[in-house]
Formats: sequence, C-alpha cells, structure tokens
Amino acid sequence: TSPAPNHLRWTMVGWKIAQCFMGNQKNHTLIFTKESNIRNCSCLADIRDCDYSLANLLCNCRTVLPSTMEKTDYNSDLTIWFTDTSVLEMLLNFTMVWDLKLSFCGTTPLPTEYLTIWGLRKLRVKNKVKGQFPEQSVTIYSSSKNEKDDLLTMHNKDRQMLVYISFLDTSLFNGYSLLKSYSVENVSSITEHFHNLLYSSVFSTSDNKSYVVTFIY
Ligand SMILES: *[C@@H]1O[C@H](CO)[C@@H](O)[C@H](O)[C@H]1NC(C)=O
Ligand SMILES: *[C@@H]1O[C@H](CO)[C@@H](O)[C@H](O)[C@H]1NC(C)=O
Ligand SMILES: *[C@@H]1O[C@H](CO)[C@@H](O)[C@H](O)[C@H]1NC(C)=O
Ligand SMILES: *[C@@H]1O[C@H](CO)[C@@H](O)[C@H](O)[C@H]1NC(C)=O
Ligand SMILES: *[C@@H]1O[C@H](CO)[C@@H](O)[C@H](O)[C@H]1NC(C)=O
Repeated sequence: TSPAPNHLRWTMVGWKIAQCFMGNQKNHTLIFTKESNIRNCSCLADIRDCDYSLANLLCNCRTVLPSTMEKTDYNSDLTIWFTDTSVLEMLLNFTMVWDLKLSFCGTTPLPTEYLTIWGLRKLRVKNKVKGQFPEQSVTIYSSSKNEKDDLLTMHNKDRQMLVYISFLDTSLFNGYSLLKSYSVENVSSITEHFHNLLYSSVFSTSDNKSYVVTFIY
C-alpha cells in the first residue's frame, strides 16, 4: 500500500473515533472554491485551512452552481476558503453573518474592495502566506446572554433598534499589516455620516435605528 492512501485511511479511522465522542456537536459550514466549482460543506471537525481533499473526504459537501446561488444569512459559524474577491462578493456582500472565518488560499495579492456584512460579531482571518500575522481576529460585539434576543431585537437604551454593519477591506488578506478595526457607534443615518461611501444610497434612512458602523482593514 502506498503512503498517501494510508495517511487518508488513518485520518478516516481517527475521524470515526472522534465522531463517537462528538455525538451532539454541531456541524459548521465551510464553503470553498476549487477550479471554478463552489463546494458547500457541513463539517464536524475543524479542517486544516485550504486542504481541499481533506474537506471533501471528511465533510458532507455538495457543489453549488454560481448561477443558482442565492445569498443566505448565516447565524452560526461560517468558514470560507477563497482565492479571489469575486467569490467573497457572491457569497458575502450585503449578507448577514455572525461568526466568520476567512482563509485566503491564493497567492495573487488582493485589491482594495469593500465587503459589506451585516451583524458581524466576530471575524477571524488567516493567510496562507507564512508572514508575520498568520491568524488574527477581531470581535465587534459579544452575543447577548439570551440567545433568543437576537440581532433583530437588540436595542440601545433609547429603545432604538441596533444595527451592526461592517465594511471589510479585502486587501487586509495580503498580510502587510496587523488587522485593525474601527467602530463608530450611534450613527443615525449612514447616508448622512458616510456620504463618501460610493454606495451609501443602498442604506435606507430610518428614524428608529441606530447603526454601529465598523471598518475592518
Ligand atoms: C450552504 O449550506 C447551508 C446548509 O448547510 C445553507 O444554509 C447555505 O445557504 C448554503 N450556502 C450556499 C451559498 O449554498
Ligand atoms: C455533519 O457532518 C458529517 C460529516 O462531516 C456528516 O456525515 C453529517 O451528515 C453532517 N450532519 C448534518 C446535519 O449535516
Ligand atoms: C460589494 O458591493 C458593492 C456595491 O455593489 C461594491 O461596490 C463592492 O465592490 C462589492 N464588494 C466586493 C468585495 O466585491
Ligand atoms: C423604537 O422602536 C422600539 C421597538 O422596536 C420602541 O420600543 C421605541 O419606543 C421606538 N422609539 C421611537 C423613538 O420611536
Ligand atoms: C445618540 O445620538 C442622539 C442624537 O443623535 C443623542 O441624543 C444620544 O444621546 C446619543 N447616544 C449616545 C449613547 O451617544
């Protein structure tokens, strides 16, 4: 027997044993692109970043056609392995994700583009580049004690609905500097306060909302 299948077989054995102990643990969603295919996986284990064959082996994956793909909200962990910003745009731009892990598996540096994410609580980023900053994270806010008290029912003390919105600069994956974030709280109108945002017109103006605007760069 050759070493490669053996290593995979042992991984499978380890996995089956692990499964017995992890009975009730929740699967998390992993989405990655490979040769213009988008794979949407449900994984019980944490798969080493950008290890596509291991993900295909250990997770429950299916192919998603870009033409039929719809933007979805993710209220549990979401991991995305990507190589260019077009996939991120398709999957994430103007969607709601609470806990996001992004792993950059490409080698071509990414341009500065802004990804708009609603409700982001925690972001972890990882670069394949063996640079100075292999994994970094930023927590924008903690989930409320009462899980039922979800995003849509969060209020500030003036009883305004709190809306979290994050703008993520995709060039941060090039790993040239430390991950940073800057939040502006108590923003009543995005259009008014950030009129330099090219597409601020997509944000409706509403009286009874208080935005927390976070820039991640
Ligand atoms: C991926 O699968 C999850 C369910 O496991 C689903 O909620 C989500 O919408 C899917 N995402 C895409 C882009 O197909
Ligand atoms: C959870 O993941 C395992 C393998 O990773 C898979 O066999 C199982 O069907 C998944 N469960 C759900 C509910 O998707
Ligand atoms: C997200 O959408 C906005 C508005 O359409 C666009 O300007 C921006 O470039 C998109 N972000 C990415 C990463 O493609
Ligand atoms: C804003 O909405 C909340 C409920 O969503 C309500 O309790 C509060 O009175 C409203 N405030 C104003 C100023 O309309
Ligand atoms: C939020 O802004 C409103 C007016 O725009 C002000 O009355 C209120 O005190 C501010 N709240 C905080 C917590 O800064």
